[in-house]
Amino acid sequence: MTTQAMTRHAMTRQVQMKQFRGFVAATGFAVALAASAGVGIAAAPPETASCAGCHGANGMGNAAANFPALAGLHAGYLNQQLYAFKHGSRANAMMNAMAAALTAATRSKIAAYYASLPVTPMAEPNPAPGGLGAQIAMQGLNTGTTNAVPACASCHGTGGLGQGRFPRLAGQPQAYLAAQLVAWQKGTRGETPTHLMRHIARKLSPADITAVAAYYAALSPNPAPGAPAASTKASAKTPG
Ligand code: HEC
Ligand code: HEC
Repeated sequence: MTTQAMTRHAMTRQVQMKQFRGFVAATGFAVALAASAGVGIAAAPPETASCAGCHGANGMGNAAANFPALAGLHAGYLNQQLYAFKHGSRANAMMNAMAAALTAATRSKIAAYYASLPVTPMAEPNPAPGGLGAQIAMQGLNTGTTNAVPACASCHGTGGLGQGRFPRLAGQPQAYLAAQLVAWQKGTRGETPTHLMRHIARKLSPADITAVAAYYAALSPNPAPGAPAASTKASAKTPG
């Protein structure tokens, strides 16, 4: 793009923004205004320009390419993942290379930025499939036996929207979710000393993984209409 074209583009954006604010004021969608006008959004660190190609300019990832959404995830969680990619306890060639150059200070800024981004509404939330995936998510498996798998929702929240450091699963790419569970089985994804997910993943069969990943991938990453919109945001900011 030429400088002129960029200026024109920026001006068009400004005009669109003004019109949008007018619309928002007229209709009274204060929440939409806060999200789109950037209220409460941390400044984008320059390093995030290189992340946008895969994770999207809005941080919502790319389902077709299996790049996960980062928007609205807990800052402490994001920071920890970038640390793990840099130091190799979470193995992924693309992200190991991306994280290698990031200092602790830059990681914190990047994590705060993505944590502050609103979760862009999905155009058409898919109907969640029932069956085995829903059962694992809501009730778990083999309850009462030594092989018990706890309900995923007990940590990842109702509808998989996440709670603090238990990340959102709803709307993440299906193959991405499945790959994480397999990574814990194989030991290529590490985590905090509690190893919560490693213990859980090792009890899941390939069919269980396919079903539960499909279930969460089909859920909307946004709270259902009528649900308190601020709940994921508030818990995403839980310190610690
Ligand atoms: C070339 C594509 C690509 C680029 C560029 C890229 N990423 Fe990623 N990112 C990925 C892929 C693929 C994964 C999933 C890795 C896995 O399966 O473990 C990922 C995963 C992540 C995760 C883990 C998300 C989660 O839910 O656990 C974080 C955090 C992340 N990337 C941050 C960044 C940041 C910050 C940048 C820019 C500095 C960046 N990425 C640039 C492809 C990319
Ligand atoms: C006891 C709490 C707990 C339960 C129950 C639980 N998880 Fe998790 N899960 C976690 C934690 C903690 C993390 C973050 C791990 C890390 O720091 O890498 C996580 C992360 C994940 C991730 C990675 C998300 C991402 O963005 O990379 C997936 C996928 C996942 N869990 C799936 C599941 C599934 C499927 C179930 C049910 C079978 C489940 N979890 C049950 C605690 C839990």
